[in-house]
Amino acid sequence: MHYDPCQRTFDCAPTLTDSEVLEFCREGHLLLRGVVPDEINQRTCAWLDGDIPANPGYIPDGLTEADLDRIRFTHEPTSIFLEDWFIEHVLLNPQLAGAMRSLLGPNIGLPVLASHHRAECPMEAQRWHQDADHIYGPELRFLEVFYFPQDTPVELGPTELVPGSHIQPGGPRDEEEGGVFCDGPAGTIGVHHQSIMHRRGKSTAKGLRRMLKYNYWRTAPPQRDWIVEEDFDFQSAYYGGHGTARFYAHMFYWLCGKGDQFRIIGGQAWPWQTENQIGPSYGFDAKEGYQPNWRKDNPDGYAR
Ligand SMILES: [Fe+2]
Repeated sequence: MHYDPCQRTFDCAPTLTDSEVLEFCREGHLLLRGVVPDEINQRTCAWLDGDIPANPGYIPDGLTEADLDRIRFTHEPTSIFLEDWFIEHVLLNPQLAGAMRSLLGPNIGLPVLASHHRAECPMEAQRWHQDADHIYGPELRFLEVFYFPQDTPVELGPTELVPGSHIQPGGPRDEEEGGVFCDGPAGTIGVHHQSIMHRRGKSTAKGLRRMLKYNYWRTAPPQRDWIVEEDFDFQSAYYGGHGTARFYAHMFYWLCGKGDQFRIIGGQAWPWQTENQIGPSYGFDAKEGYQPNWRKDNPDGYAR
């Protein structure tokens, strides 16, 4: 692990393989359960609750100690990012860092803003939504992370999300319809594409649910520098179904540094496929054809 405190960037070895990077493109999220040590989880809760003094490693230019004190007790307690123990064990958590390195390339920018989602449970679920200012596109220039410092079983209303929903507007979702829960023991960290549909799940237990949410930032152009699988086959890999495979595949190609070259010819052609074919799909490695129309301003869903 190389951490540059002046630039607030880090670098380390990637931990995800081709298949896992493609899986992230399809699902739009991954979950690391219980990866932060308990002592740090408890210290985070105590810091957020104001039970221990702040001890910032430094005071950023343009801010004063009074500013940091004020920030600490807002819904955006970003001064926690200046605590050395939080940097080492949460922001630079080894499992998280390896996943980030795989998805965001080298010299990843650390977050500059924290949101604290604090809920006195029990509580009704939030409405399904996508966060402000989300973008649909093949690019992966930042990732959103959330950290639960206390045990967060389904009963305490962890984040609930709709896998695969990060590529296009899904339309209003029935509030009765469920999703996938990001539950886990204290120290669970989730990673998701910022455009994914999600909500705070309904909680039935009594207690305080704290969650910190923040973004990691790409600083280098994408290339296929995660763990390459010798036998990974771009032609036969599973990219998704009708109407979705083209977007997940485009995202994967963008991460490989080949987003501009990505072309598809439509219909039953690659990247779509079914297990009942007697040969590979046509259209793989097409030099002419279309790109997926992320902006949805063409009725057939294709763009140049
Ligand atoms: Fe949200």
